[in-house]
Amino acid sequence: MTTHVNNPRFSNKEHNGMTKQKRTVNKSAALLISGALLAVAGQASAAGGTGVPVPYRISSDCMVCHGMTGNNTIYPIVPKLAGQHKGYLELQLKQFKDRTRADQNGQIYMWPVAQSLDAAKIKELASYFASQKPAMQSSGVKHAGIKEGKVIFNQGITNEQIPACMECHGSDGQGAGAFPRLAGQRYGYMVQQLTYFHNGTRVNSLMNQIVKNITVAQMKDVAAYLSSL
Ligand code: HEC
Ligand code: HEC
Repeated sequence: MTTHVNNPRFSNKEHNGMTKQKRTVNKSAALLISGALLAVAGQASAAGGTGVPVPYRISSDCMVCHGMTGNNTIYPIVPKLAGQHKGYLELQLKQFKDRTRADQNGQIYMWPVAQSLDAAKIKELASYFASQKPAMQSSGVKHAGIKEGKVIFNQGITNEQIPACMECHGSDGQGAGAFPRLAGQRYGYMVQQLTYFHNGTRVNSLMNQIVKNITVAQMKDVAAYLSSL
């Protein structure tokens, strides 16, 4: 029996949580910026220590949600960006800007941010986050279904015509180029994106087809495995 996903409850819950948390953080970020600009600038130049200059917008526009080095671990629906592939990051920022990535959280949180980015800034931001070390990795929180998720990732599910995820995302979920790294990505974020691909609100011809028949339980299993890496 295949249970299809219809507006799962967790997305609303996470969404409301985010709005609440965002309000608090925005307030403290405003305090930080008005009260301690110098401290923020100091933190910015020390970030990651990779030698890639920090684009000026990170501290004002991205840090609040993604963290200074793209390794945010506070909000379940906000993806980690540290060590994500440059080509993939660039593509996503372009798609938020031209509004072709139109899933709900993208519209709410990333459309306003991406609107003011030009092509040069997009490249700069993508390079910055791609070069942050360490690359996104497990937060140590274990979710149920790691073992089952590993089988889906490595072998797919033949009777539901779901191919092995590793064919595109790499044997360790490391990704390459336009295929995103999934190893160490956040559990809640990945379940949310699989839901969007499944219901078609995030458009990608490959992923929409691949997760057409996936169940909520299978999404959670594969996300449990990948977030544990
Ligand atoms: C208000 C919070 C917020 C701010 C500020 C913000 N982001 Fe995001 N970002 C999000 C959320 C939430 C998502 C997930 C959107 C979705 O589900 O489609 C996201 C997604 C992304 C993605 C897609 C990653 C992936 O794995 O597909 C990129 C790239 C990104 N943000 C870059 C940035 C950059 C660069 C900035 C600063 C210029 C920034 N964001 C500012 C909340 C934010
Ligand atoms: C044929 C290649 C291919 C296969 C097989 C594949 N993917 Fe993907 N996947 C992609 C591409 C390409 C993207 C980026 C889509 C975009 O640019 O919006 C993606 C994006 C994703 C994302 C979003 C990542 C982010 O940061 O937002 C998740 C999660 C994901 N895939 C999970 C899976 C899982 C789980 C499987 C196996 C059931 C799988 N993929 C199989 C090509 C593939």
